[in-house]
Amino acid sequence: MDRLVVTGGVPLHGTVRISGAKNAALPAIAAALLTDEPVELENVPDVVDVGSMLRLVQRLGTSATHVGGAPGRIRLFTPELVSVEAPYDLVRRMRASVLVLGPLLARAGRARVSLPGGCAIGPRPVDLHLKGLERMGATIDLVDGYIEATAPRGLRGAEIEFPQPSVGATENLVMAATLARGTTRIVNAAREPEIVDLARLLLAMGAKIEGAGTDVVTVEGVERLAGARHAILPDRIEAGTYAIAAAITGGRLKIENAPLELLGAAREKLVEAGVELREAENGFEAARANGVLEGVDVVTRPYPGFATDLQAQFMALMCIARGAAMITETIFENRFMHVPELMRMGARITVHGGSALVRGVERLKGAPVMATDLRASVSLVLAALAAEGRTEINRIYHLDRGYESLERKLAAVGARIERVP
Ligand code: EPZ
Repeated sequence: MDRLVVTGGVPLHGTVRISGAKNAALPAIAAALLTDEPVELENVPDVVDVGSMLRLVQRLGTSATHVGGAPGRIRLFTPELVSVEAPYDLVRRMRASVLVLGPLLARAGRARVSLPGGCAIGPRPVDLHLKGLERMGATIDLVDGYIEATAPRGLRGAEIEFPQPSVGATENLVMAATLARGTTRIVNAAREPEIVDLARLLLAMGAKIEGAGTDVVTVEGVERLAGARHAILPDRIEAGTYAIAAAITGGRLKIENAPLELLGAAREKLVEAGVELREAENGFEAARANGVLEGVDVVTRPYPGFATDLQAQFMALMCIARGAAMITETIFENRFMHVPELMRMGARITVHGGSALVRGVERLKGAPVMATDLRASVSLVLAALAAEGRTEINRIYHLDRGYESLERKLAAVGARIERVP
């Protein structure tokens, strides 16, 4: 079990290159199932979850080959499906596997996908995915922990309204709708940039989609989709994470290959907290502005609100800000596992239901801590970079799921960080 050992107190300086977004690459890989022609993806991040998704589509009949030249370039080719089953041992490791459900139903008229089961940050049901597919004419049964879906006469367009936005359900239904008979309208759709990126790929494959990125997405089904080439958009969560790394260590980083506006609502909250963010050539610069960090209240919201995937990282920053910060998590039931670990480093945080009150302290102190989920893990790394002394972070396989070469990128800008087997 690898560990990370960090010796804090070093302001970070230099350039960090942002990788492709994990949460855009995963649906894009699933989308390749929709056609029997090659789909070539670029800027695919080299993270564990992408590897898991590639293994899953390979089981279904896709050949996935790394193409020379640009980094992260993968050619996906599914001349025919050899299976329609996403097995439990794969799905339990990565909930996003459920994104093959829509494409399998659209292409083959049937699918057998394991229910994802819960995960550290909450039960995370897929009821919105299933209800939407039923409205499109699929028959769904839950048998032995598996979703057994059939649409023998193909899927038909439908009017679907979500009670609350869901990124995965929006992606699954948009992909299913591209090959359905007729038009599908999804109301209260998720608006994340990763949805827009998926729509860009599907449009390049010949799909007819309007409104991606707004709360009403309309898809007019077509007979078949063709292959395409597509570059995955940069990872806004990784970009936000490194902007916070610059601020929390009192350094200055050039965040390359990610436009500043990708940060959405997090941008103004970071500025309010005393982080200087400036547009720059092919990216932006992030630094602690006048040396002082201020406590700022944050409520996580679906895009374009403050991203839940940046909540833990922002909390780490607030631990050493002046004054207090109330951080409210509205998307997931249990996304405060980083709190007890940050408290072991001297943070002063009290949790009441979905809100955490952070009272800033002068300095954090290094301590052995444990990672619990992807974003909680990186918040511990951020705290360790700012803390006095040595921090040892265990169970960092969580980090490897979503951050490409984290310790290499941090070491390259001055962090004293190493991976210990
Ligand atoms: C995506 O997860 C992201 N994952 C998550 O990032 C991100 O935190 C989340 O969207 C933000 O909403 C990928 O894109 C692979 P949701 P997803 O459906 O699609 C509830 C990371 O760290 N819900 O938008 O699973 C659900 O329980 C990960 O990279 C239902 O009730 O999230 C949650 O409370 C973590 N029924 C809320 O909606 C459903 O059918 C938002 O979930 C689906 C979701």
